Amino acid sequence: MKLPIFAANWKMNHGPTDARAFVKSFLAHYPRQQDRKVVFFPNALSVTTVAEAVRDRPDLAVGVQNIHFEDKGAFTGENSAPMARDAGATHVLVGHSERRHVFGESDAAAGQKVQAALRAGLTPVLCVGELLAEREAGETEAVVLRQLRAGVAGLEAPQVAGMLFAYEPVWAIGTGRTATPADANAVHVAIRAALREAIGERAMGVPILYGGSVSRSNAPLLLAEEEIDGVLVGGASLDADGWNAIVRA
Ligand code: PGA
Repeated sequence: MKLPIFAANWKMNHGPTDARAFVKSFLAHYPRQQDRKVVFFPNALSVTTVAEAVRDRPDLAVGVQNIHFEDKGAFTGENSAPMARDAGATHVLVGHSERRHVFGESDAAAGQKVQAALRAGLTPVLCVGELLAEREAGETEAVVLRQLRAGVAGLEAPQVAGMLFAYEPVWAIGTGRTATPADANAVHVAIRAALREAIGERAMGVPILYGGSVSRSNAPLLLAEEEIDGVLVGGASLDADGWNAIVRA
């Protein structure tokens, strides 16, 4: 059985001091749960702080929001997968829409980052999603599946089976506009079918998260859908009490 996954993408918020206070307050009200997994994605400077705070909790994990695809070298300002691992991360977001659309990251770069993550033993969470204009042009599935295939290009089936995926329509991120649970589920069905084509029955066990203006009120509705295995939450994950309410959904 797939455990539901609740992922918090803090984006460029919560430096080490805030992160420490957040986790302290969160842990005080969130005893260990056997039936769900929570993954925090703090900024790189706060990863060690959060990783140390949740070390004794197998139901909680920590990831980074981005990595470079090289393991080391002259790439000023970048962090690599082995470094993220060393800092306590077990997961990494790859191809988040802000990386794609604010920083111009290509589909191919996302594929290279997935490979770098796997080399270092990190679990990649490959994010895919269409722009509003692409949705309106009826291109949602084509865009999402193009991003998906480029992200897993060249991988062996067991590697893909060990990944996580997140569908995040770009027009729903940070806008307060969420895809309806049925619309989101329809895209998840297409992602599942593409994964099945690529890796067979193992695709059934791969978690596919939904992200984009997830809140405490819509999270239970989204999670009730057959193919939505978890949520990736930005804005609503920034406050410890609000996040606690979502992960108890
Ligand atoms: P949001 O962000 O929940 O603030 O829409 C989600 C994300 O970007 O992962």
